[in-house]
Amino acid sequence: MSRVVAKKRLGSVPKLGSVPDGADSVKSCQTRRRHLARLLAGGVAVIPTAPERLRNADTHYPYRWDSHFHYLTGFHEPEAVLVLVGGKTPRSVLFCRPRDAQSEIWNGYRVGPRAARTRYGMDETHPIGELEARMPELLANCPTLHTPIGLDDAWDRRVTGWLNAVRGQVRSGVTAPAAVCEVRHALDEMRLIKDAGEIRLMKQAAAISVSAHRRAMLFTQPGHSEFHVEAELLHEFRRHGSEAPAYPSIVAGGANACVLHYVENHAPLKDGDLLLIDAGCEWQGYASDITRTFPVNGRFSGAQRDLYEIVLAAQMAALKAIKPGAPFVAYHEAAVKVLVRGLIDLKLCRGSVDGVIESGDYRRFYMHRTGHWLGRDVHDVGEYTVAGRSRRLMPGMVLTVEPGLYVRPDTRVPKVFHHIGIRIEDDVVVTAKGHTVLTAGAPKTVADIEALMAQR
Ligand code: GLY
Ligand code: MN
Ligand code: MN
Repeated sequence: MSRVVAKKRLGSVPKLGSVPDGADSVKSCQTRRRHLARLLAGGVAVIPTAPERLRNADTHYPYRWDSHFHYLTGFHEPEAVLVLVGGKTPRSVLFCRPRDAQSEIWNGYRVGPRAARTRYGMDETHPIGELEARMPELLANCPTLHTPIGLDDAWDRRVTGWLNAVRGQVRSGVTAPAAVCEVRHALDEMRLIKDAGEIRLMKQAAAISVSAHRRAMLFTQPGHSEFHVEAELLHEFRRHGSEAPAYPSIVAGGANACVLHYVENHAPLKDGDLLLIDAGCEWQGYASDITRTFPVNGRFSGAQRDLYEIVLAAQMAALKAIKPGAPFVAYHEAAVKVLVRGLIDLKLCRGSVDGVIESGDYRRFYMHRTGHWLGRDVHDVGEYTVAGRSRRLMPGMVLTVEPGLYVRPDTRVPKVFHHIGIRIEDDVVVTAKGHTVLTAGAPKTVADIEALMAQR
């Protein structure tokens, strides 16, 4: 099919921003490996990628690499292990699958150790089949082995096997690692602060997801089912080249929105109900995570609007609290205050704002936190508390801001509010001066939502 014909038939794909070639450049990965090597203080890090997983019979789930491994290598194939030898001149050694003509006919291309060396900026590469034989030598005289511990039983057993193999050589003058250390903590901390290239990728992930949410709003109408809307989201993700959703999409009409992790997505959408969509794509290994809630028929009812305005005000208050130096918990607290004020005004809670926060009575309607780190994983790595105190925000951190209200049937609550579930979620990067909302293009005021939906 010629390009012109293809364009006509499929519709043009909007350009959502420019991205560098390949997710993380070889240079970024080398910089990260150098940084980690310094932290190893002469030790050796051994970091495997994720295994392939069977879905059923001989069919696998779509493959997704391990986020830490990919952060350090950019390498996307399964059956690969990075060995990072610390010390004055650190060495990166990649073990990967060898080229194999038969397997490549059936299962797809492989990079192979020879091409991987230059393509991924490694010092050495070897076929994965040589890992067992080479590990005792790589670990000989190394003071500490850094690796994921308790991630996978099979991996733990292999690590023990290598340690025993080195210990078996001590009479020939070799010393075995005296300590085995969890490597993920250091990597979690590195990944918490995103560099400029990572922010560019996260902007692109956000832009694609914004486009998908707009598409969903323009498509939704009574009579469609949740899965029809989910299909629109997936279509938009994929046509922009996203590999997959960053997590299972939540497309929850009416009362389903009160199930926080609702993923069945099978119910018909009813006139007069709200639709809550929590969906975001993964783009070159980076997640986006957006929630919007809007009326199936395009117009909010009075009760829906009352609750919606409270959640929106809570989200705006939370955003205000995001700046460098602020404790992570501050934006949750800001959101809770506004939610509680609104619940009291609507007579869904009784008492003073401080009293309702103290008693936790608001948790009948708001039972989750207001956000989390976002990055390669949707609930990304990094501690929230340091030395017993809420972590201070720093430029380069990326987080979500997602207050909500969920009203289940309750005799203390007027019927008109029953079964309404609302969440509004944006992705935010902390900057030197404050923050930037990456997902601002998805309408969220009542006026903007109704205006967009009026275009259907
Ligand atoms: N989509 C998962 C979350 O919002 O935490
Ligand atoms: Mn989230
Ligand atoms: Mn979400």
